[in-house]
Amino acid sequence: NKGKYEHYMQKEIHEQPESLTTTMRGRLIRGGSCKAKTVLLGGLKDHLKTIRRSRRIVFIGCGTSYNASLAARPILEELSGIPVTMEIASDLLDRQGPIYREDTAVFVSQSGETADTLNALEYALENGALCVGITNTVGSAIARKTHCGVHINAGAEIGVASTKAYTSQIVVMAMLALAIGGDLISSQERREAVIDGLFDLPSKVKEVLKLDQEMKDLAKLLIAEQSLLVFGRGYNYATALEGALKVKEVALMHSEGILAGEMKHGPLALVDETLPIFVIATRDACFSKQQSVIQQLHARKGRLIVMCTKGDAASVCVGGSCRVIEVPQAEDCLQPVINIVPLQLLAYHLTVLRGHNVDQPRNLAKSVTTE
Ligand code: UD1
Ligand code: M6R
Repeated sequence: NKGKYEHYMQKEIHEQPESLTTTMRGRLIRGGSCKAKTVLLGGLKDHLKTIRRSRRIVFIGCGTSYNASLAARPILEELSGIPVTMEIASDLLDRQGPIYREDTAVFVSQSGETADTLNALEYALENGALCVGITNTVGSAIARKTHCGVHINAGAEIGVASTKAYTSQIVVMAMLALAIGGDLISSQERREAVIDGLFDLPSKVKEVLKLDQEMKDLAKLLIAEQSLLVFGRGYNYATALEGALKVKEVALMHSEGILAGEMKHGPLALVDETLPIFVIATRDACFSKQQSVIQQLHARKGRLIVMCTKGDAASVCVGGSCRVIEVPQAEDCLQPVINIVPLQLLAYHLTVLRGHNVDQPRNLAKSVTTE
């Protein structure tokens, strides 16, 4: 049931304040006078000791689920102190990459039925790793075959393009980082800030959704383009990859997510006065580096669209003619949840304006059950 919406993708983008609330329901405890702020993931509580003892945490998934893991990686590394690596499921299998008994392997999948991810799960089970699932589908193959896990509880996702599952996956992985970080005194302040940030997230997502019309206007400008580059780094490298995936998947426009730190190692050669470039430059520890990236793109007359934190328009677009999209600020590690929303809206409007099928892009299936 699409309710008042024309497409499932549109509905699922707009219901993110509610889906995120459901994802967190009963799992975050903001203590009263004596209780500390903590996280409770029922599916993991008996396994946290084993996870904390593991030598490595390896995230395994495909497409958007892989991107969500990439978005959560920095906070997992920070709060767990355990090395975190990433694997695209098919690539792990192609290489028969090393998975050890001392590893915690986390399988991320909205459907819980993706063939590549399931095959990687069988492989990790054979190699003796602790296998944890993060899935949206109760009773799915991945939920059943993992040793333990967390349901993201985002509600059924119908559109082939994953939107609300992505943001809920990031939130679950941030909660996973908090749970593994446990009661380490050294990071208590940070953990409490992240928990406060999680509580504030649904209302900030509601706020960023107000950019709908602005993103539609931007889509009108980009309607006839052949290609769109998306630059991000740090917490928002994943946002660049995921934004580009959405644009190519539904709007059928070539788009590429680029790690801004790699700019001079190749991508800069593409920059001219015609190619549109979307730069994510919200406030975090990488902000000044992103400012200098913008200046360099500007010096090459790049056609820039810059996403920045509210109030920063003047400092990201000095003397320039770039288009600016201002978003609300969240705790740095949760900013990817905010920043993906305008890109989801852009992909949606581009698709409608270009006359393509929004909910079932050509050649794609919601659940990829063959290799
Ligand atoms: C569970 C109940 C929820 C109830 C809550 C009350 C289910 C599905 N969930 O939620 O309805 O409101 O207790 O305390 O009945 N699991 C995997 N692999 C996965 C995902 C989950 O093995 O990929 C396992 C978990 O380890 C856990 C079980 O499935 O044993 C349920 O997980 P989850 O729904 O996340 O647990 P709760 O949030 O505690
Ligand atoms: O169900 P899964 O999360 O395992 O699916 C993984 C990918 O097939 C999926 O995210 C795909 O990339 C989406 N269509 C992206 O929107």
